[in-house]
Amino acid sequence: MNLLEVKDLGVQFDTLDGTVNAVNGISFNLKAGETLGIVGESGSGKSQTVFALMGLIARNGTTTGSIKYNGKEILNLPEKQLNKIRAEQISMIFQDPMTSLNPYTRVSDQLTEVLIHHKGLSKKQALIESVQMLDAVKIPQAKSRIHLYPHEFSGGMRQRVMIAMALLCKPQLLIADEPTTALDVTVQAQIMKLLSELQQELGTAIILITHDLGVIAGSCEEMLVMYGGRVMEYGNIKQVFSQPAHPYTKGLLHAIPRIDHQGDQLTTIPGSPPNMLRLPEGCPFEPRCGVALDTCKNVIPTLQEFTDNRYRACHSALEL
Ligand SMILES: Nc1ncnc2c1ncn2[C@@H]1O[C@H](COP(=O)(O)OP(=O)(O)O)[C@@H](O)[C@H]1O
Ligand SMILES: [Mg+2]
Repeated sequence: MNLLEVKDLGVQFDTLDGTVNAVNGISFNLKAGETLGIVGESGSGKSQTVFALMGLIARNGTTTGSIKYNGKEILNLPEKQLNKIRAEQISMIFQDPMTSLNPYTRVSDQLTEVLIHHKGLSKKQALIESVQMLDAVKIPQAKSRIHLYPHEFSGGMRQRVMIAMALLCKPQLLIADEPTTALDVTVQAQIMKLLSELQQELGTAIILITHDLGVIAGSCEEMLVMYGGRVMEYGNIKQVFSQPAHPYTKGLLHAIPRIDHQGDQLTTIPGSPPNMLRLPEGCPFEPRCGVALDTCKNVIPTLQEFTDNRYRACHSALEL
């Protein structure tokens, strides 16, 4: 059984300028213990997709479609029930640790509170388990440093504290939204390694969001490429990297700097992402696409399985 089944998910925002169609009919599945990478340029709807899973869409937003978690519909679930799932089974780490850490409270209190409240542990036992978790995310001298405030940790260490907090209740699903974007490359690699080690240990499924293809290359089984709030391509990561099937994916992959191509001009995809208030009538990528056909201007391509477990939304001829 799938841990998560997302079907035809849509997120729209009412604004003074009109409707923002942030997410437009996204579908994907995730099995227990598996890692899905979601990539796409800034503004393509990655965060809103996972915010919808967490019930965190802003007040001016409406969510449609279906999100089944362990077979149970969780989209638009009453706040109280959702809170329970959120606290005990699904957790999230953000780009900025200060989104989830309280600057005025010692790390020890923030971690133990979670365990006391959700797992019913005693204060003493909660402190023992919290220190163990800080050890697990490789924070040196965890036993004494747990009593510090978040600002007393460096950026990378703070990110580790946040990961520890997210994993305290041993969630089945961890959502990581650009977890390493703010960190330097070395720390980025350490954090990604740590995440996959903890995943192996706990059997957690992960949704990893990034605009950096390099970050997901080593850590995901499946990848979903988003553009203009839609899925352009979805499939096994190795296959997508070796044989991208969508012009947008091809563009993204070409834009990765390669060490063996020194001196080459870094190619970027010409043009800029669409205005989500006024999406094109047809394929959102059409204005920037090098192989667009006439139909692409006015008919939105649907996501279709073109071979076993590989999907793309494109009218152009398939060239692998
Ligand atoms: N509360 C909101 N009201 C209006 N538009 C919003 C709101 N929140 C997000 N958006 C818009 O939704 C679109 C998708 O955003 P997001 O999912 O954050 O993109 P990504 O994470 O891929 O960078 C963007 O165009 C963003 O401006
Ligand atoms: Mg985002």
